[in-house]
Amino acid sequence: MNNTYKAIIAVFVLSSFAFYWAARYAAPQDGRPSLQAPDTSTLAENVPMVDVVVPPELSADALMGQRGFEAKCASCHGTNAAGQNGVAPPLVHKTYEPNHHSDMAFVLAAKNGVRSHHWRFGDMPPIDGVTNADVLMIARYIRELQKENGIF
Ligand code: HEC
Repeated sequence: MNNTYKAIIAVFVLSSFAFYWAARYAAPQDGRPSLQAPDTSTLAENVPMVDVVVPPELSADALMGQRGFEAKCASCHGTNAAGQNGVAPPLVHKTYEPNHHSDMAFVLAAKNGVRSHHWRFGDMPPIDGVTNADVLMIARYIRELQKENGIF
């Protein structure tokens, strides 16, 4: 076997090893949201998880929603829906953009509660004392915050 063949075989062996290694160990780079709960362990407990820019003006519906949110949701999801580490996630977050969590997801969350799946903060209980219409106003408020913060 001459040196050219040896070189070709060596390149082949090395590149298949590199290919195997990349497939086996490299992190997926396709930009899909991770299915694993995000690591929030570097944040202190109960602090807001994101910086929320408040829009200069809210629509009338969103203002109603803001009132509902502050009464029924902010104790967990934080002021301006910025989240509270260890308690509840920010709703001003790309996980909750309209294509991923529709307004209906908000209605169902309030009605039935949510089993913990995106974060490690435990379950959300069903929320008493809000109608579906109230929650749709709350969703309006969250959407206007999301929009101002470039979530969609
Ligand atoms: C007792 C704390 C608590 C209260 C009060 C609360 N939430 Fe939640 N909420 C959570 C937690 C914790 C999660 C995250 C669950 C997970 O790990 O995915 C969550 C998740 C959600 C989600 C995502 C649902 C999904 O399908 O993934 C929505 C939407 C939501 N909350 C809306 C609301 C609204 C609207 C209110 C007020 C009407 C509210 N929450 C009140 C704790 C709370």
